[in-house]
Amino acid sequence: MVVYQLADLDFALSDLPTMPVADRMVMTSPDHFSIQYVINPHMAGNVGTVDTARARAEWDALKAAFESCGTAVEVVEGMPGQPDMVFCANQTLPYLLPDGTRGVVPSKMFAPQRAGEVQYFRDWFASRGWSVVDGIALGDIEFEGMGDALWHPGRRLLWGGHGFRTDSAVYHWISTWLQAPVIALELNDPDFYHLDTCLCVLNEETALIYPGAFEPEGLALIHRMFARVIEAPEDEARGLFACNAHSPDGRHVVIQRGCAATNAALREAGFTVIEVETDEYLKSGGSVFCMKLMTW
Ligand code: ARG
Repeated sequence: MVVYQLADLDFALSDLPTMPVADRMVMTSPDHFSIQYVINPHMAGNVGTVDTARARAEWDALKAAFESCGTAVEVVEGMPGQPDMVFCANQTLPYLLPDGTRGVVPSKMFAPQRAGEVQYFRDWFASRGWSVVDGIALGDIEFEGMGDALWHPGRRLLWGGHGFRTDSAVYHWISTWLQAPVIALELNDPDFYHLDTCLCVLNEETALIYPGAFEPEGLALIHRMFARVIEAPEDEARGLFACNAHSPDGRHVVIQRGCAATNAALREAGFTVIEVETDEYLKSGGSVFCMKLMTW
């Protein structure tokens, strides 16, 4: 089932089956990261400006921050000619079925420049024994993996962003295949083109959001399902990607450096904040969350 409106919501979070939290992580090495084209507003004016050594150091520190939370990180080598592959949240959506089957739904990338990244991840997962859903099922419907589709921590529920990179039509098929309801959230601001730029699911009870990126229905759905909703101010959400943070364990939050008001709210709510610098990646429209993929 796909839920678009509060009126359609006929379950509470506690009605849903539990599901293990994805606690393993994949990152793509940044060897071939650069900005060669503009496919989101953040990239404008930044073609050719990446400082490669700085980007490498930032990536190493981000990996170390995740590892300091006890997360095992597996590294996929980046490919020449795929400068955005470092954003490895986008090429697939990993899933775990109730019978224990692990698989991935491969994305159908919005931008042709990124299309070649998907086959690499399909092969990588298949070679490790994961099911790879036949991409034909997606047809021509655009879908950008964990950029837009986020598992609710601990419950069999998927949050599905749409409007810029993902077509909402995909969620009917995904809900059936993954045996999970999908709550669809329409995105309304091009700076927040993926759901992971404006919704961070910190743990089963808590979300960090930038409310201005959602329609009123979406906001109502978020408030209905999360007991606690922390709001990032506009400057930190838009300029520093505050909501593109990630909590590997439901207690620590890895986040771009300088999100002062967001961090104060996170600490107030009992989280431990780990600040990292991702400014080379912000130039491309990405930060902490999109530089890794969570698996089981
Ligand atoms: N340059 C990349 C793109 O526009 C950045 C992707 C960031 N990923 C994310 N999940 N927000 O596709």
